[in-house]
Amino acid sequence: MHTRRYSLLYSLALLCVSNLTLALTPWESIHQTIHTYPLAIDSKDFALLSKVFTSGASANYTGDLSNLNGLPAIQTALAASVANVYSQHLLGTTVIDIHSNGINANSTTYFQASLFGKPYSIGSVVSLYGYYADTIERATEGWRISKRLLVFQGPGFVGNLSLVGM
Ligand SMILES: *[C@@H]1O[C@H](CO)[C@@H](O)[C@H](O)[C@H]1NC(C)=O
Ligand SMILES: *[C@@H]1O[C@H](CO)[C@@H](O)[C@H](O)[C@H]1NC(C)=O
Ligand SMILES: *[C@@H]1O[C@H](CO)[C@@H](O)[C@H](O)[C@H]1NC(C)=O
Repeated sequence: MHTRRYSLLYSLALLCVSNLTLALTPWESIHQTIHTYPLAIDSKDFALLSKVFTSGASANYTGDLSNLNGLPAIQTALAASVANVYSQHLLGTTVIDIHSNGINANSTTYFQASLFGKPYSIGSVVSLYGYYADTIERATEGWRISKRLLVFQGPGFVGNLSLVGM
């Protein structure tokens, strides 16, 4: 009797949790999209970027990566940029403006990224500081970034610049 009651409660609890997952607000869904980016880059799972960018997205990461057009170009360029390092992207301050039509948004998200030599040794680390200014749209598969501009803040790069070819 008790076992049955517990399993019923357990099922109800599971149902609540799965409903919560389904019931994300637009702001929460956009936040998830933006914050999935580090998981893709740092695990070098570049296919996962299809959950972050639209297929026709453009990105400007400045320098050699200032004119990336289309998801495949973004995937290839970002893969090359971390091919010889371990990376950790930490996203912080996130402000999202959802436009009144309910299908467009833009956001500003602060980042700090650390790139570590592979193999790592003392001194083989460079830190990047800046923010992403993103244009976001509600595609059929969910909210995706259609345009990204990276803006460096302060000195931009601090540390062992040889890790970023400087
Ligand atoms: C990329 O951004 C930089 C810095 O904001 C800007 O100078 C450059 O013109 C941009 N490039 C493209 C292709 O939009
Ligand atoms: C969204 O874009 C508008 C217009 O360019 C800008 O004023 C606003 O600061 C942006 N919002 C965020 C959160 O970046
Ligand atoms: C900078 O990083 C490179 C590549 O990991 C390493 O060989 C070099 O020793 C580092 N320089 C310093 C000053 O630690």
